[in-house]
Amino acid sequence: MSYSIKRVVVIGSGTMGGGIAAHVANAGLPVYLLDVTQTIVSANFARLKKSKPSAFFTPQTADLIRVGNLTDNFSWVGEADWIVEAIVENLQAKRELVARIEQVRKPSSIVSSNTSGLPISAIAAETSSDFKRNFLGTHFFNPPRYMKLLEVIPTADTDPRITEFMQTFAEDRLGKGVVICKDTPNFIANRYGSMSGAMALEYILENGYTVEEADAIMGPLIGRARTGIFRLQDLVGLDVAVAVGENLYDLIEHDESREVLRNSTVRAVRTTQLERGRLGDKTGQGFYKKPPKGKKEDILSLDFETMEYRARREPEIPSIAEAMKIEPLSRRLKFILKQDDKAGALARHTIYNSLAYAARRIPEISDEIVNVDRAVRWGFSHELGPFEIWDALGVRETVANMEREKISVVPWVKEMLASGQESFYRSEHGARKTSTGLIDLGDGVLCLELLTLDGVALCKALDTLENGDYAGLVIANQGPDFCIGSDLSAKELQDVLTKVRFSSKPVVVAPAGRTLGAGAVLSMSAAAIVAAAETYMGQIGVGGCKEMVRRIVSPAMKTANTDPLPLLQQILQTIATGKVSTSAAEARSLGFLAASDRIVMNRDHQVAVAKRVVLELVDAGYSPPTRSKTCYAAGRDALAALRAGLYVMRQGDFITDSDLDASNKVAFVLCGGDISAPQWVDEQHFLDLEREAIV
Ligand code: NAI
Repeated sequence: MSYSIKRVVVIGSGTMGGGIAAHVANAGLPVYLLDVTQTIVSANFARLKKSKPSAFFTPQTADLIRVGNLTDNFSWVGEADWIVEAIVENLQAKRELVARIEQVRKPSSIVSSNTSGLPISAIAAETSSDFKRNFLGTHFFNPPRYMKLLEVIPTADTDPRITEFMQTFAEDRLGKGVVICKDTPNFIANRYGSMSGAMALEYILENGYTVEEADAIMGPLIGRARTGIFRLQDLVGLDVAVAVGENLYDLIEHDESREVLRNSTVRAVRTTQLERGRLGDKTGQGFYKKPPKGKKEDILSLDFETMEYRARREPEIPSIAEAMKIEPLSRRLKFILKQDDKAGALARHTIYNSLAYAARRIPEISDEIVNVDRAVRWGFSHELGPFEIWDALGVRETVANMEREKISVVPWVKEMLASGQESFYRSEHGARKTSTGLIDLGDGVLCLELLTLDGVALCKALDTLENGDYAGLVIANQGPDFCIGSDLSAKELQDVLTKVRFSSKPVVVAPAGRTLGAGAVLSMSAAAIVAAAETYMGQIGVGGCKEMVRRIVSPAMKTANTDPLPLLQQILQTIATGKVSTSAAEARSLGFLAASDRIVMNRDHQVAVAKRVVLELVDAGYSPPTRSKTCYAAGRDALAALRAGLYVMRQGDFITDSDLDASNKVAFVLCGGDISAPQWVDEQHFLDLEREAIV
């Protein structure tokens, strides 16, 4: 049977159900979102639309969701190809719901449960074998749009074709990083995360660390998220963290480390905090205390000796600042692990215990170490997973260090070393680089890895493309941001971008993350853009005027009797306010991306798609744009109208004198200058105006 998902039902409209529904809508699919009553679902949907950072790519994306209740609208379940259960974490409630779903679902539909810790097989235990074949776990991380990890959990009864289909669907359409898990307690990420967190917490509280010290050590210093350990607990909520720990304890009787979940020092602190209602951000106080809303007071920290709040105390551990200057993480870790101070001691305890624990869970939670590394990186934003860290530190040396600290190392790791294999991963040969430092993507397509917007490297790449036997060029990178600006002068930048634009062979730009200023204009100058869904593009400044006129005004003005003024006003506003899109979809609605430009949900697929677009352009007989008069200059009358609007805004004090000055310059360029009548001009006309305005 071949599967396809055209309509989705999400049941449970809370934090996770709402976030999943929004992200399915981001993928362009219609969604029914259901909850117990209409009042609950409407209130949750209203909150979802206001969530920050936004759950939706654009405000219009929310229109793909229709909300309903489980009494009047349960028949909608019968229309869905994928039914996601995301109700309360309660086995009985989930069982009752899947029994109801079974009554109405259509035969080929896939049903999945978004539980954090309940056994997937237990949820479907009372259903038919046909239902069980179509049922599996899909464990999203919060918030579903932004967290890359999706744990997919088949049971022994799940049809392997369903698992395979869901993996492809989630990777391609939802852009997720899928890790297939076994149906073991808390699956992979939360099992490791809970235990590794508990091991650290025990050490922190038993050895007199302050909250500030612990957070300074447990964050980016050791390759973890900025939230450290206590900020993270405040975000999650102490009640939730305690419930997760308690549930896990009961489920892992066989786990040699489970007592760490019931450490008495940790329990004492938690009990006091719970009794005093200090649950974290949701009650305004946890390990940190925020000032009441509207008050400009400092955030206070919990003092473990008095269990009261006190002013922030900066950690006095000089090795932390010293280590933070060291890149990459592998070198920084080696440095910090050697320190004979509080940072070194906590890092050693946390890292060695976590790595050893991860190894002891193979093959229980996964047969492959790569699944553990991916789950930890994608689910918790750690820079490296445990086995990757272990490799970076040196496996043999780390085993010796662990044994010195009396940490039990599982036999398979020692056997691996004894067999002569010194690392968990074998280093692969990287992509083939050409002599000019470009990457050869195969089929005649080159790739320039954009580290900074460097005119020399770009020109060299374009020369190689032009003079060699190549089909086209992709410009991309792997960092979190594509480009946040450039040091080039206006003239240098224009020259190199003109070269990109008029290259005789197609240049495709693949932006992701922040793509600002020159990075945005570089993208717009290319033959095509292949943007990652999470692309934040904008702040184009005067240097983006020509591209906006070319992309938005000029095509529209080919139709007789079109008024250019509304378009020019819209562009003026985008440029003058330094607008940055919150997604690639929004970049399209702002005009930075054309309808023909592609958006790729999964960043890992972006370069492959960009390469394909190069080849498609070549197949379609690519020829560069002509240098003829293809840009519409609206001239003096439109300029007067734009200026009048700006004058009114200044009079109303909506903008300052310097805003007015800058906006007038942008308006001047957008209208093609002070020409007496509208006319068609070449791109150079606008480039000259841009340069004059910048100078
Ligand atoms: P939530 O409390 O925000 O939302 C649960 C929703 O389910 C509520 O809107 C509630 O009205 C509805 N509901 C309750 N009982 C119901 C029933 N019998 N039938 C239909 N709807 C019912 O909970 P949240 O956080 O969204 O969690 C949902 C599931 O996702 C849980 O199983 C949880 O363990 C799991 N999960 C939660 C994560 C998180 O960070 N919050 C992360 C990953 C999974």
